[in-house]
Amino acid sequence: MYILIAGATGGIGRAIAHRLKQTIPDVTLIGTCRQLPASATLPDTGAKSDAIDHWLVVDLTDDASVATLAQTLSDQFGYINHVINAVGLLHTADQQPEKTVQKIEPDFFLQNMQVNVLPSLLLARYCAPLLKQASRLTAGEGVQTGKASTPMNALTGNGTQVFATVSAKVGSIEDNRLGGWYSYRSSKAALNMGLKTLSIEWQRTLPSACVVALHPGTTDTALSAPFQARVPAEQLFSPAKTAQYLVDVVASLTPKDTGSFIAFDGERLPW
Ligand SMILES: NC(=O)c1ccc[n+]([C@@H]2O[C@H](COP(=O)([O-])OP(=O)(O)OC[C@H]3O[C@@H](n4cnc5c(N)ncnc54)[C@H](OP(=O)(O)O)[C@@H]3O)[C@@H](O)[C@H]2O)c1
Repeated sequence: MYILIAGATGGIGRAIAHRLKQTIPDVTLIGTCRQLPASATLPDTGAKSDAIDHWLVVDLTDDASVATLAQTLSDQFGYINHVINAVGLLHTADQQPEKTVQKIEPDFFLQNMQVNVLPSLLLARYCAPLLKQASRLTAGEGVQTGKASTPMNALTGNGTQVFATVSAKVGSIEDNRLGGWYSYRSSKAALNMGLKTLSIEWQRTLPSACVVALHPGTTDTALSAPFQARVPAEQLFSPAKTAQYLVDVVASLTPKDTGSFIAFDGERLPW
């Protein structure tokens, strides 16, 4: 069984990889990164200190780069059972999320849209045939495929292809009570709309899939580090805790859940 984790270098992406490996020890995990992390498998020694089996360097905001990723996945693995995207941007070295509309900077706004929205849509565009192939093989499991070393149902147990993106509750329009963070909120709302739209399309063309947006809860990573001061200790999760929650959510999904926005504890959030 093959699971693609986009943004596997991030705090949450890396922890999800570890949790998946704990849960399904012989799963094959493919991680995308912008630059190979020091922990990546070293081709000359095979030494390995992370949960990712195959690292692929990809610019997930670039159409041609994601097309090449999908071709590589097709050549090397033939199909992908699940895609989990944990890429995201909240602040940069130069820019913090905007407290007021006066702080809007077009470049930062567009960077948020580029990093928080485009990867999921490009991954959906180019990985759809790989998920469809997994769907066909899962339906025919028991037939010798020659490629499946782990049961195709090992994660969800029900033949679903999960396409999950780590979004954020602040992207909910209905839940927006505090305001602020214009670029991040707008980009996560756009991401959520993209995922909802994809779920509707795939109900026709890939009905065994489940497309969801996930809210991880405030998690102790580089992304949230500048904003943790007022978060009560019990509401600040370690990446491992968040990953445990999110993997449990993903494992519970069926196609009936497609088009949902789901929090770490399983709560259905308003869009
Ligand atoms: N942490 C929280 O409290 C929290 C709360 C709500 C939602 N989230 C969401 O959870 C997701 C994961 O966040 P995190 O907390 O794990 O943050 P993180 O540790 O900063 O990880 C962010 C990931 O996104 C990747 N990334 C950033 N810019 C990119 C770009 N231009 N192209 C490709 N990849 C890029 C990073 O790659 P590099 O390693 O190469 O930089 C890294 O893998 C994000 O979508 C975030 O919005 C987090």
